[in-house]
Amino acid sequence: MDKLRVGVIGCGGHAQTHFQMIAAEPRLHLAGIAEIDPKRLADNTARHCPERSFADYRQMLDEGKLDLVHITTLPAHLTALVVECLDRGLHVSVEKPPGMSATETAQMAQAARQSRGKALVSFNRRYIPQVLALRRLLKERGGTVQCSATYHKNQTILGQWRGAGLVPDPVVCDAIHHVDLLRWLAGAGQERAAVPVSVYSEVADGPRPAAHRHQAVVRFDNGAVGSLMSHYGVGFRIQRAEAHAEDFSAYLELSGEPQCELYQALPGEGESTRGTKLNQPLDLEAVGGPGYNEVRHFTDCILEDRTPWSTLDDAAQTMVLAEAIRSGHKGPLG
Ligand SMILES: NC(=O)c1ccc[n+]([C@@H]2O[C@H](COP(=O)([O-])OP(=O)(O)OC[C@H]3O[C@@H](n4cnc5c(N)ncnc54)[C@H](O)[C@@H]3O)[C@@H](O)[C@H]2O)c1
Repeated sequence: MDKLRVGVIGCGGHAQTHFQMIAAEPRLHLAGIAEIDPKRLADNTARHCPERSFADYRQMLDEGKLDLVHITTLPAHLTALVVECLDRGLHVSVEKPPGMSATETAQMAQAARQSRGKALVSFNRRYIPQVLALRRLLKERGGTVQCSATYHKNQTILGQWRGAGLVPDPVVCDAIHHVDLLRWLAGAGQERAAVPVSVYSEVADGPRPAAHRHQAVVRFDNGAVGSLMSHYGVGFRIQRAEAHAEDFSAYLELSGEPQCELYQALPGEGESTRGTKLNQPLDLEAVGGPGYNEVRHFTDCILEDRTPWSTLDDAAQTMVLAEAIRSGHKGPLG
């Protein structure tokens, strides 16, 4: 089988994670990289040995014979590049957040609908094997009824980038990971992320630029209820989530290497007992193994002509929710 030929546009900090995932996927070949910063272009050429390197991404699109493009620029530079690649019929991996606003996401989603290429938004929390294995357990128990997600950082460069117009507010740019995770956990029991139908959000920003604080309760189309807490000005970078089905609870620690605690109330235990902590490990093999990630998923989808889990249309729902949380929206989502 011929390998899919991949190009990467934007070779900054986070592109390194994409390069690692591409190198680990035997069905992909790194055909080209494009970067406007000459030093970064030279460093990344030496480090990742693409077939060709380009200072001009258009030259790469014209000459690179690509099947697939990963676009890993900052959000302000993303939309035009994604639309151009989709218009050329290429498959596109879109870094999060998908644009500066839900309007930009909708613009990209429109281009995807008209393209021969597929698009996947790199909401990578969805593809963490422990998260996927947990979704299976929740589904076996009738689906999620309640969930929550926490996404805190102590200090962030996002305030400076926000000031320069390069990124949206932190909850849309960054904590969106857990806004999306909330949808994904709430949707356990179905093949897609739950759709938010209403949100009640309180905003209480701190005094420093981008020291934003949010607390939101979200009701989803399947009846599940979720809450998000996000604060850019806490003591430490903390990323956690929990999800509950009837008589079953899971606590996920995602600040570092993913860990998950599971609890089950067994029949006949009675209310006075504390339930049982389940000690069996999550079944990662059943969801693609410990190395599963969004690049493997997207490669499967391209080769098997399947729809990715995190399309641009779906990501638009997450962007709308993130913006509603940021604006302190209270009520139904239109
Ligand atoms: N999923 C995650 O966990 C995660 C983590 C960090 C960052 N990110 C996301 O990754 C994206 C990139 O962040 P970063 O920290 O790597 O930014 P960065 O500034 O380090 O890298 C972006 C690169 O894109 C290059 N670039 C911009 N326009 C270009 C063009 N037209 N052609 C070629 N190169 C171009 C820039 O020169 C820069 O080197 C952001 O959207 C961010 O939200 C995601």
